[in-house]
Amino acid sequence: MERLQKVIARAGIASRRKAEELILQGRVKVNGRVVTELGAKVGPRDDVEVDGIPVEREEPVYYLLYKPRGVISSVKDDKGRKVVTDFFKDLDKRIYPIGRLDYDTSGLLLLTNDGDFAHSLMHPRYEIEKVYVAKVKGIPTGEQLRQLERGVKLEDGMTAPAKVKLLSTDRRKNTAIVEIRIHEGRNRQVRRMFAAIGCDVLKLKRERYGFLDLKGLRPGEYRELTPHEVKLLRAIALSGGRK
Ligand code: URA
Repeated sequence: MERLQKVIARAGIASRRKAEELILQGRVKVNGRVVTELGAKVGPRDDVEVDGIPVEREEPVYYLLYKPRGVISSVKDDKGRKVVTDFFKDLDKRIYPIGRLDYDTSGLLLLTNDGDFAHSLMHPRYEIEKVYVAKVKGIPTGEQLRQLERGVKLEDGMTAPAKVKLLSTDRRKNTAIVEIRIHEGRNRQVRRMFAAIGCDVLKLKRERYGFLDLKGLRPGEYRELTPHEVKLLRAIALSGGRK
């Protein structure tokens, strides 16, 4: 048995708090009857409706995909380009990515059908640490790297403090490999941060998401998260994401 608000949230209809409001507003029915108690629990066979629309009761699933470059972080694309859910052709559940990686970015991407879980991981205040490795044009100076660490001004505001490490340089080709750890997840954030210090990103890969990495996977491959990993991610997100 599970709490009604959790079932509604997991179906991606609303956050858990919004789901509680829906219940209090009398918009939720269980087996045809309006339920307004927040403590109510439902089993897998109970019919739940929100505003008269049945709530899908799929078993929650959680995957870690090694997204290759040249794939859209979406469930469909108007231009017919490859999307991340194309790697899960035989799955009979409607999963979607938690956040996004750019078309040209490779690396670790989580997918789920658990709206509540996705929502808590993407909450801007609680975002989990992500580690990116960027190949950039130009060799950033120590001062430029410190600027990235302190925060740079982007058109949507200053970035939060980051951790930055110069991994290698190629003086002949005038390129560098830089690791950057951030908690935020703004659109094209890493590319824009490097642009702000005058370096173009030539290649970008997300190597880690919290304690998760890509070990054992090649581009296009995925694995299921273990129940323990799911539990830990939830705990990290709820405790403020600083792990
Ligand atoms: N930052 C970017 O610029 N691109 C991504 O795909 C992820 C983070």
